[in-house]
Amino acid sequence: MRKLLVTSALPYANGPIHLGHLVETIQTDIWVRFQKLCGHEAYYFCADDTHGTPIMIAAKKAGKTPEEFTAEIQKQHYRDFNGFFINFDNYYTTNAPENREFSELIYEAAKKKGNIARKTIRQLYSEVDGMFLPDRFVKGTCPKCKSPEQYGDSCEVCGSTYSPTDLIDPKSTVSGDTPVLKETDHLFFKLGDYQKFLETWLGKGVSPGIKRKLDEWLTDGLRDWDISRDAPYFGFAIPGEKDKFFYVWLDAPIGYMASSRNFFNQNDPSRWDEFWKDGSGEIHHFIGKDIVYFHTLFWPALLEAGGFQKPARVHVHGFLTVNGEKMSKSRGTLVRAENYLKHMEPEALRYFYASKLGPGLDDLDLSRDDFLSRWNADIVGNITNIYSRLCGGILPKLGSTLSKSISKEGTALKKEGMAAADKVKQHFDTLEYAKAIKEISAFADSINRFVASKEPWKTIKTNPEEARQVVTDALNSARILAGLLKPVVPSFVRGVENLLNLKEEITFQNLDQKLPSEHIIHPYRNLAGRMDEKVFDAMLEEEARLAAAEKPAASAEKTAPETGAKSQSKASEKPAEKAGDQAKSGLISIEDLEKVELRAGRILHAELVEGADKLLRVELDVGEAEPRQVFAGIRAAYKPEDLTGLTVACVANLIPRKMKFGISSAMLLASGKDAELTLYTAHRQAKPGDRLK
Ligand code: 2FM
Ligand code: ZN
Repeated sequence: MRKLLVTSALPYANGPIHLGHLVETIQTDIWVRFQKLCGHEAYYFCADDTHGTPIMIAAKKAGKTPEEFTAEIQKQHYRDFNGFFINFDNYYTTNAPENREFSELIYEAAKKKGNIARKTIRQLYSEVDGMFLPDRFVKGTCPKCKSPEQYGDSCEVCGSTYSPTDLIDPKSTVSGDTPVLKETDHLFFKLGDYQKFLETWLGKGVSPGIKRKLDEWLTDGLRDWDISRDAPYFGFAIPGEKDKFFYVWLDAPIGYMASSRNFFNQNDPSRWDEFWKDGSGEIHHFIGKDIVYFHTLFWPALLEAGGFQKPARVHVHGFLTVNGEKMSKSRGTLVRAENYLKHMEPEALRYFYASKLGPGLDDLDLSRDDFLSRWNADIVGNITNIYSRLCGGILPKLGSTLSKSISKEGTALKKEGMAAADKVKQHFDTLEYAKAIKEISAFADSINRFVASKEPWKTIKTNPEEARQVVTDALNSARILAGLLKPVVPSFVRGVENLLNLKEEITFQNLDQKLPSEHIIHPYRNLAGRMDEKVFDAMLEEEARLAAAEKPAASAEKTAPETGAKSQSKASEKPAEKAGDQAKSGLISIEDLEKVELRAGRILHAELVEGADKLLRVELDVGEAEPRQVFAGIRAAYKPEDLTGLTVACVANLIPRKMKFGISSAMLLASGKDAELTLYTAHRQAKPGDRLK
């Protein structure tokens, strides 16, 4: 059994999660789920990356302390990831006591070894802002091509890179002030002291392709790394220094240690050492290609300095493009996770990414037609079709009961599935997800072909036992199929497990198990529905609308913590903003209120939703020709039969929300939670559809 500690890069706590972040978290989540299903001990840790100047400034603009600001964003991030079934064992924050402790410990250890140097540098300082300005907080005219409005580190017009002091007529992006050059002492980590160590570690810690790239840096000689920032700064104060803080990129990866420490402290504290101290566990980091330098040079060197175990492997992926182009806010292609979830199935994205991902650095393109056809053709057309034909079409006519045992042909089909499983396992383990999906699809084709050749819908009329045998044979293989899909579409597979009435969940260890003799299958419920172009387009339109509605971001917010490396998330993570002072006061106008259509709705019918322990499905009359379907999270508080006939308050003009169980087209108003939750009912007579004012 392997012991694995797995991480994804920590998102900055100053902007929403978007589909770019999800390439990584989905890739990681599939890997961790797969390892767990194989019986390995695997943990998935992540956190929000909370420190640095941009976050400090964004918090100030929002009128909050950085602690309040980042705590709110952390909750949103966790909620969004959860919506995509990302199954973290712990989602923590870098602004945590464990992180401070490890940051100080590593720094002190490095200092003791003589790896820390003090140097005086000259940096732009704004008297008005009262701070030294990171590169991306200075704009001016490019010294090469003379284009105006260029950032302090590079020119977006001619592509040249320079230092902010080279800019012509530099200005602070915070206040517009003209900064002056000022001397300050900074602390540097002497990365060169770890040259030999890194040469060896890189031999196993990264792929040969990445190693070749990094060798260029090693050959040029490793430069000292500036790990301090002057006050004001949101971060950890450096011990023994006055008004100096650790640079965000020093404590960010230490956040991996902190998140896992926080988890193991609540369980079994000694387990933490197995990963970070005694070497019996493996550490795996998943990151994007923009932050390789931080994770494969600085990070292992810091761990070595502190006497901690180094990553077994850093896995690197490419960027996301949408419809063949770089994600863009104005075109609506920088899609927020929250917006996606309003329109489409979370598992469609998981499946699509899996069908595209390999172990390399290639970018991944989310093109509408490709995306839709993967879901519609593979999951709905090919795979769901197996279960719906057998369990929905045929089995109910056979008392929903399977045969005593599998036939010879059924055994052969099952064998084919187990042979596919061997390859699929290999592919998941080596991050060859696209190959795994091809293999799984081919097996689904085989099951469909088997059923089609036997035509049980015909034989059922003349020889029902023969039809029962075909269904039994096919479903035994379809159980394997579901197991293979489980790391990718776990919720879909949970539906299959319910349908197949399994006592034990499917894993990669019990794949070969047979369904019990004369097993009874549950009634068929739709497992997955088709999605059309309209929902995809509506999502992009809404994203463009959201972007346009936001006040143009102040230039300071166009930046993420001063990474010194181009980061996809960096350019895209801007704080969610409220428009104008009105929003700041928390008050809204009567026009704003009128945008919300509050109506009286009569509950015609309510029922439990299988597979959803919090939801009830409600048919709601809001005065239209047809009642609307609503999925309401009120199951803990109400029995379905108590709801029929109630007239309740609802929001009638929310964009319909596509959920796993169907579309929800209104929202019931309620307060309280769990068993204490209460709906709001009409005090006197009210007609369905009446507007609440
Ligand atoms: O580039 C980024 O989005 C960083 N917040 C990633 C940090 S990963 C780890 F080092 F914390
Ligand atoms: Zn230029």
